[in-house]
Amino acid sequence: MEAMLPPPEDAAPSEPPVTLLRDAPDWYYLLREFEALYRHGSAGGSEPIRSHRAKVRNALSQILAANPAILPRPPAQKPVTAHFARTLDLGERGAMQGMARALREVRDRLHWEYGYEKMPKALARKYAYCEVLGPQGPVRSETLILGFVLFAPATTYPQHSHSGIEESYISIAGGWSENDTAVYAPGSLILNRPQHEHRITTGEQDPCLLAYAWIGDQTKLAQPGMKLTATRKARAARGI
Ligand SMILES: [Fe+2]
Repeated sequence: MEAMLPPPEDAAPSEPPVTLLRDAPDWYYLLREFEALYRHGSAGGSEPIRSHRAKVRNALSQILAANPAILPRPPAQKPVTAHFARTLDLGERGAMQGMARALREVRDRLHWEYGYEKMPKALARKYAYCEVLGPQGPVRSETLILGFVLFAPATTYPQHSHSGIEESYISIAGGWSENDTAVYAPGSLILNRPQHEHRITTGEQDPCLLAYAWIGDQTKLAQPGMKLTATRKARAARGI
């Protein structure tokens, strides 16, 4: 009888090969669309917005030059993603068509999530976001988060703020308002500075898709601890 030999060294299980950004053209071109938005758009004469745009595009340029690894996340749907096809269709007909087309190419690889520990029931059916770059991947970065947030028609995204993080939203499809102060159409950018309380509402007829960028404190980017601000009624009930 033949003696059992240990398996040859090259038969040992090997690490799966790492894919780098340049070998993943769909993710790379999607990030190039973000870079174009933050490079060529207008700051509307606002110094804080000009500075935010510069921070985002500088961080992104460095990330693109470093050719980071892709850490694929399992695709995940949420109820609101039933509106995604319509959203892309609207986006491809409007001012943000380049971004909408690039997003279509990765649509089956997106990991849609809520981010909040406590999710109001009504919002769970009408909201979700997905990251395309950040500490969790799929494109790895510690210094910047880029992603998309999707809303069903007639959604109210309750009041919240972000500690240590500057946030900008750029409309890709649909109309929306923040703090009841204006209506934003595809191509508009809005800056929410750290701690700024904001509440979003979306149009009655169509879904709404916003691209977003988060830049700021790296520990906050790694663990943003998203929390909706308690309503006045809830605060009163808890005696705060
Ligand atoms: Fe926000």
